[in-house]
Amino acid sequence: MSTHIETQRLILREIRATDLDGMFELDSNPNVHVYLGKKPIKTKAEAQENINKIINQYQTRGIGRFAVIEKASNEFIGWSGLKFNTGEQETLGDKRDFYDVGYRLIERFWNKGYAFETAIASLEYGFNTMNLDTIVGAAETGNIASNKILKKIGLNYIEQFPFENEMINWYELNKNNYAKKMP
Ligand SMILES: CC(C)(COP(=O)(O)OP(=O)(O)OC[C@H]1O[C@@H](n2cnc3c(N)ncnc32)[C@H](O)[C@@H]1OP(=O)(O)O)[C@@H](O)C(=O)NCCC(=O)NCCS
Repeated sequence: MSTHIETQRLILREIRATDLDGMFELDSNPNVHVYLGKKPIKTKAEAQENINKIINQYQTRGIGRFAVIEKASNEFIGWSGLKFNTGEQETLGDKRDFYDVGYRLIERFWNKGYAFETAIASLEYGFNTMNLDTIVGAAETGNIASNKILKKIGLNYIEQFPFENEMINWYELNKNNYAKKMP
């Protein structure tokens, strides 16, 4: 799978083995994992496993999160994009077999509007290139930045439910409503 999506300041492309150091910086930081189950990784081998999982998803599910590259520095700054959540390990409450939009950035790159910029591009890719019917978003209620982004890109709040001792906000957008919101 070879993908190249450009936004004003960023490039989204498929994740590669050479992203290992960036993936380790990303997922070994406890601050990144506050709203992700609080289990940061400890070794590069775990970062390697995460990369392998995503590459495997490109092949078996036709989609997976993309690496985000900052154009100005050419640095790997994290990942963003769509994931097809399927199988018993990837249910969320009673939700299964859904495409969600997600993002996870290295802390040095937070608060620049980058996650928002990538999320807009992800919706565009999902609805116009993949022709998906529905894209969803899920965020812990305390994750203010993520909830803001999901609302700002036009997803509609549907409901709240408990999952693994946390409360989750669930959002959805379908292709028709997406098309109506576009200029
Ligand atoms: C969530 C995350 C991707 C946001 O990335 P980001 O590039 O900093 O987000 P943006 O700059 O696009 O900001 C989006 C909005 O959230 C706000 N925001 C960002 N960080 C915030 C924080 N810690 N607290 C409150 N608001 C915050 C921004 O001010 C902006 O608000 P605005 O729309 O009113 O301008 C980043 O914090 C991250 O990687 N967190 C760890 C992983 C994670 O939680 N992923 C989401 C799981 S659901």
